[in-house]
Amino acid sequence: MAIKNHLRLLFTAGSLLATTFASPVSRFEDDDDDDTPLPVVIWHGLGDAYNADGMRQVADLAESVNPGTLVYPIRIEDAGNRDRYDSFVGNVTEQLAKVCVDIAAHPILSTAPAIDAVGFSQGGQFLRGYVERCNNPPVRSLITFGSQHNGITRFRDCETNDWICRFAMAVLGTNPWSPTVQGKLVPAQYFRDPEQYEKYLEHSNFLADINNERSIKNETYKKNIAKLENFVMYMFDEDTTVVPKETSWFEDVNGTEITPLRARKLYSEDWLGLRELDRKGGLKFRTAPGDHMQLSDELLTEAFGDFFGPLNRHKGRSDPRPASHVGDEEFDMGSGGRSEGRPASRGGEVESDMGNDL
Ligand SMILES: *[C@@H]1O[C@H](CO)[C@@H](O)[C@H](O)[C@H]1NC(C)=O
Ligand SMILES: *[C@@H]1O[C@H](CO)[C@@H](O)[C@H](O)[C@H]1NC(C)=O
Ligand SMILES: *[C@@H]1O[C@H](CO)[C@@H](O)[C@H](O)[C@H]1NC(C)=O
Repeated sequence: MAIKNHLRLLFTAGSLLATTFASPVSRFEDDDDDDTPLPVVIWHGLGDAYNADGMRQVADLAESVNPGTLVYPIRIEDAGNRDRYDSFVGNVTEQLAKVCVDIAAHPILSTAPAIDAVGFSQGGQFLRGYVERCNNPPVRSLITFGSQHNGITRFRDCETNDWICRFAMAVLGTNPWSPTVQGKLVPAQYFRDPEQYEKYLEHSNFLADINNERSIKNETYKKNIAKLENFVMYMFDEDTTVVPKETSWFEDVNGTEITPLRARKLYSEDWLGLRELDRKGGLKFRTAPGDHMQLSDELLTEAFGDFFGPLNRHKGRSDPRPASHVGDEEFDMGSGGRSEGRPASRGGEVESDMGNDL
C-alpha cells in the first residue's frame, strides 16, 4: 500500500501544480457582482501527501462545482514523500507557521478578499489553527471532514508495511507527554485523554492551546472563529479510525459519557467563539455515511456547492437557528443527495487513496 502510494506519487508529482496555476488568474475587484469563486485551500490528513491522486480529485471537484476556483493544496514540503513524512513527524506549531507564511505570500491567495478552506481529518484542526492564529487572508467557510477537534484518546493502527506510521506509533506509545514526543510526533499534539487531563493541559503542544482550554484565553482565537461565515463539521457515522468519532463534532467523550459541544463549558463560556458563531447560524454539524474518510463525489459536491463559490453568493442564507436545535437537523433538511448512499464509482477511488489517513 505504502509502496503503491509512493509509486503513484512519482507519476503525479508536478501535474497538480500545473493544474493549480492553469486556472484563470482572477483580480478580486471590490465589486459586489464579482462572480469569481473564492480560492480554496485544502489540508490533507495523516499519511497523505498534498499531491496524491485523492487530493487532485478533490481539487478537480472543487473546480467543477465552482468553475474558475483556484485550489491550493497545503504542503509542508514540495516533495510529496517528504510532505507525507511531515504529516507524521514535526512540530505542528512550526508547520502551521510555515503554512501561514506560504499562504500570505502566495500571489493569488494573498490578493483574495477571503479564502475557503477544507480540511481532511487532522488537516481540519490544523486549518482551524490557521484561522485562530493567522487568518491572513481570512477564511470565509471552513469545512472539516472527520477531524479531531476534541483530540483523540487512542492512536490509530498502521498498515503492516507502513514503516513511517509504525515508527511514529511505536514512539508515541512510550510517553505521549514528553517534550520530544510533543515536539516531534504530530498525532501526539492532538492526543487528549480525559483521564490525564492535567497532563494534557500542561504538555499538549497544540490542541490545548488552539482549543483555548488553559486558564489564559487567547482573545484573537475567539474573535477569528466568531468571524467565520460557516464552520461545517462532518462526522463519519461509522468512523472506526478516529477514537472517539464524536471528536469530529467537538464533543467530549469520557469513558461512556458523551457531552455535546453545546453542553460544554468551552461553548457556554465561549472560549473559542463557537457560541457566537452558532448564534449567527454559522456552526453546522453534518453527518457523512460510512467509515473514516469514505468520501464520495456527492458528499464533496454538496459541501462545496453549499459553502464555497463567489464571495457574495451565499449572503443571507445562513439564518440564525435557536441553539437548542439538534445539529444534525440540517441533515434531514438536505437536498437528498446524501441519503442515497455512496456510489461505487469515482468515490471509491477517492476512498482508496484516503482511507487510511487520520
Ligand atoms: C494570541 O494569538 C495570537 C495569534 O497567534 C498571538 O499573536 C498572540 O500573542 C496570542 N496572545 C496571547 C496572550 O498568547
Ligand atoms: C514547537 O515549536 C514552537 C515554535 O518554535 C516552540 O516554541 C515549542 O517549544 C515547540 N514545542 C515543543 C514541544 O518542542
Ligand atoms: C465523566 O464525566 C462525568 C461528569 O463530568 C463524571 O461524573 C464521570 O465520573 C466521568 N467519568 C469518567 C469515566 O471519568
